[in-house]
Amino acid sequence: MLLHIPGVLSREQVADFRRRLDGTSWIDGRETVGHLGAQAKRNEQLPDASPLKRELGETILLALAKNPLFFSFALPFKYLPPRFNRYTGGGTYGFHVDGAVMNLAQGEQLRSDVSCTLFLCDPDEYEGGELVVADTYGEHMAKLPAGDMIVYPSSSLHQVTPVTRGARVASFFWVQSMVRDDGRRRLLFEMDSAIEALRASGADESAVLQLTGVYHNLLRQWAEV
Ligand code: NI
Repeated sequence: MLLHIPGVLSREQVADFRRRLDGTSWIDGRETVGHLGAQAKRNEQLPDASPLKRELGETILLALAKNPLFFSFALPFKYLPPRFNRYTGGGTYGFHVDGAVMNLAQGEQLRSDVSCTLFLCDPDEYEGGELVVADTYGEHMAKLPAGDMIVYPSSSLHQVTPVTRGARVASFFWVQSMVRDDGRRRLLFEMDSAIEALRASGADESAVLQLTGVYHNLLRQWAEV
């Protein structure tokens, strides 16, 4: 399941990000993937050691910490620090699956459960550049307004189609979830959404409380923290 999370960054934050990203230097994106990925990938990235990458990444994670929709969907345990990429002049990243285990600082590792793409350009600024995610229900396409984010299971095949005009700038990163199984995570998300809707509609309080208890007890059974 893909989820569109609107307004992760404000228009002002996006404008500030764009100004600073336009003024920095980018490197070939193939430096951060293995041999197979390198054949499919044609884009640019911010270097891993870039202080700008670290600073903007921290701003994104702070914004996400205040986003209940993201929390409910991803049930985040830990994050790979956000990266930034840019596609121009036919740049593309053909169908691939992201690595399952990624290295964090100090020898720590992260299992990629949830993939995130935060769009930093509006759709009319470039041609192409759709994120296409293939799951058991078919292919889904995302090209969102600047500041919005798409999240999807990292187990999915996905691609970025060639950017034939303008530039597509985005941040991307992975989350290790407290709940590794996509199906269980989806059940919890749907249950949490239904409980919120019941609560907002003024439904019977004791029934809502009981359902909330079921939600937390399922999470207790399934969470790895
Ligand atoms: Ni990918």
